[in-house]
Amino acid sequence: MQNRFVPHMLHGCDYNPDQWLDRPDILAEDIAYMKEAGVNCVSLGIFAWAALEPAEGTYDFGWLGNIIENLHQNGILTILATPSGARPAWMAKRYPEVLRVGPDLVRNEMGDRHNHCYTSPVYREKIYAISRKLSETFGGHPGVILWHLSNEYGGECFCPLCQEEFCRWLEKRYKTLDALNDAWWTRFWSHTYTGWEQVDPPLTRGEHCVQGLKIDWMRFVTDRTVDFMAWEKKAVRDGGSDLPVTANFMGFYDGLNYNKFAPFLDIVSWDSYPRWHDGEQSDADIAAHTAASHDLMRSILPDKPFLLMESTPSCTNWMPVSKVKRPGMHMLSSLQAVAHGSDSVQYFQWRKGRGGSEKFHGAVVSHDRRSDTRVFKDVAAVGKRLAGLEALAGSVQRPQAAVIYDRENDWAIKYTAGPRNQGLHYQETVIRHHRALWQLGIGCDMPDMEGDLSRYKLIAVPMLYMQRAGIAEKLRRFVEGGGVLVGTCFSGLVDESDLCFLSDAPHGLTDVFGLRAEEFGGLYDDERNHILWRDRCHAIIEIIELVRLEGTSALAVFENDFYRGEPALCEHRFGKGKAYYIAGGAQQPLLSELYATLADDLGLERALDAGQDGLPEGVTAQVRYKDGQAFIIAQNYNQAPARVALRTPVRDFETGEEVSLLTLAPYGVRVLTH
Ligand code: GAL
Repeated sequence: MQNRFVPHMLHGCDYNPDQWLDRPDILAEDIAYMKEAGVNCVSLGIFAWAALEPAEGTYDFGWLGNIIENLHQNGILTILATPSGARPAWMAKRYPEVLRVGPDLVRNEMGDRHNHCYTSPVYREKIYAISRKLSETFGGHPGVILWHLSNEYGGECFCPLCQEEFCRWLEKRYKTLDALNDAWWTRFWSHTYTGWEQVDPPLTRGEHCVQGLKIDWMRFVTDRTVDFMAWEKKAVRDGGSDLPVTANFMGFYDGLNYNKFAPFLDIVSWDSYPRWHDGEQSDADIAAHTAASHDLMRSILPDKPFLLMESTPSCTNWMPVSKVKRPGMHMLSSLQAVAHGSDSVQYFQWRKGRGGSEKFHGAVVSHDRRSDTRVFKDVAAVGKRLAGLEALAGSVQRPQAAVIYDRENDWAIKYTAGPRNQGLHYQETVIRHHRALWQLGIGCDMPDMEGDLSRYKLIAVPMLYMQRAGIAEKLRRFVEGGGVLVGTCFSGLVDESDLCFLSDAPHGLTDVFGLRAEEFGGLYDDERNHILWRDRCHAIIEIIELVRLEGTSALAVFENDFYRGEPALCEHRFGKGKAYYIAGGAQQPLLSELYATLADDLGLERALDAGQDGLPEGVTAQVRYKDGQAFIIAQNYNQAPARVALRTPVRDFETGEEVSLLTLAPYGVRVLTH
C-alpha cells in the first residue's frame, strides 16, 4: 500500500470545481478561503464524468490536474472519486442499457444521478476505462491520498441483464430447483418453479408473498453492487495505484448489506445528515440515533477509524423542513463523529452552485461569496480545533459492549406478515438498546450476526427474528463463558430463508434464557401493557409475548389484561454468564435502567466516572485510545449548560486544566484525557 494515507485529522469537503471552470476568479477564491477555513482535504470529481470525458473516448483531464496540483501546492490533499455516480448525457442517449429499469419494468430516461445499471457491460466498460485512466494519471500524484469509489451506492435495476444475473445467482446458491423451492416454501399457493427462467425478481405487479425470494433479491442486489464496486477498484488497481479505497455509505439505509463490502474496503466512510432541531424529537434523541449510526458504520471495519465523508455545515434542502444548525451545533455534531472514531469532518459541499437542485443546500461558501458569515466562521472554528486534535488521529474505540444489528434480519422482519404489519420497528428498537449504553458513556459496537462476538462482555440481540451464521451457537458459547446477553421477544423464529424452525423459540437458546416463548401478538399504536420493576412502572409497546419459564424466574411480570402476572422480564444464569429476556416492546426508561444495572454488575468501562448520579440526560461521552492515552469527548446535546461532578478527575486536553467539576456550555463539547 502506498503510504500516503498516514493517520491525519482531515477537514474539508466535496469540491466541484468542474461547475466553475469558466470562473478563474472563483477557483482562486476557493483556495484562499479553504486556507482560511482550515480545509486540508477535498473530495474531487464525484460527479465530473461529463467534464472528464466530454465525448466518447475523448478525455479532458487537464483541468483536474491543475486543480489537484494547485490544491497540493497549497497544502490541501485530494480524495479522488471514480465518477460512476452520474453518467454523461451522450452515454445515456447512445447506450440506453446503462440506465436503470424499475420494478415496473420501465427503463428510466437520462436524468438525475445514481441512475445506472450495475450489470450493463457498456457501463462497466466505460467506468473501467475512465477510472483506470484517472488512476494512471493521478494515482502517483503526491496530493492524492485515497480513492472515493462512486457515490452512495444504492438502488436496484430490474433490466433483462440484471434478471438474468439474478437467475444465475440463484442457481449458484441453490444448485437445484428443488432446493430453491424448499427454501422458499413455494408449495404454498402453488408457486413451485419448474425452470430457473420462471423466477422473476419482486416486480411491482409480481411476487411479494415469497419472503425468501425478497430476501434473496436484496442479497443479490448487494452482491451485484459489491461486484460493481470491486470492478471499479480493479480499474484503479490496473491503472497502477495501490492507494487505499473507500465508499461513502449512508448509515441505516436498508437497501444494501454494507458488511458485505468490508473485504474490498480499506477505510469505511459515510455521509451523516441528522435532522437536528426537527421539532418532534429532542436534539438528544437525534444525537442518540446519530451515535448509533456512527457506531454501525465503524463496526463494518472494527478497530479502525472511519471517515465522516459528508455532513452539512448548516442545513440540507431535501428534508420536509430543513433547519439551519443552532449556534454550537456545528462544532458539537462534528466532534460527535470524531468521538465515535472518525478521523475527519468533511462537508457536502464547499461552495453552493448557482443552479441545480442543490443550490440551496448548505455549503461552506454561499452565493454571497463571503468568508465572514456565521456558517463560514463555524466551519473555520472546526478546522482550527481539529488541527489541535491531531493527536487523536488513528486512535480507536475499545468497546466492551455490542448491540447486534443485522441487515438481513431487518429485511426479514420488514417483509414478513406477522403480529404488527404497521411496523415492528427493528431499527428503532436496536437504537433504543444502544442508546441506553450511549447515555451511560459506554462505547458500543454494532456488528451483525457474522461478527466476532468473543471480544465483548455484554451483547444485546434485540428482535433476533432470523438466525443465521451460527448465531445461536455463538451466543450460547458467549454466555457459557461468562458473558451477559440481553434478548427480546420475536427472536429465534426463522432460519436464513425465513423458514420457521420446528422447535421452541427462541430456537437453540431456550436453555440459555431458561424459558420458551409460546405466543406473540401485536399492540395497537396507542395500546400499552405495563410492567412494574423496582417500584417503577414501564409501558410495553407494539408487541407482547406469553413465555413459559423453564428453569428461571421472572424479575417482573405484566400488569394488564389477561397477561397480568405473566413473565415480562427474566434473568437466567447459564454457565458462567447470565441471559436476560424482555417479553415485550420495551421503551427507553426500562432499557436504560436495565443496562445501567448490567453495566455496574459487569464493571463496564465508562468514559467518565460520574458516580451515583451518572450523566445528566442528553450529556454523554465516548473514548478513543492511542498509545496508552485515552481521549474522552464529552458532549452536551441540551440547550442549557450542564455540570457533572466527577469522582475521578480528568484533564482538559486542549487547555491542560484539571477538571473535577465538568462544565459544558449549551451544545458544548470538550476533549479530555487522564
Ligand atoms: C448526499 C450526496 C451528496 C449530496 C448530499 C446532500 O447523499 O452524496 O452528493 O447530494 O447528499 O445532502
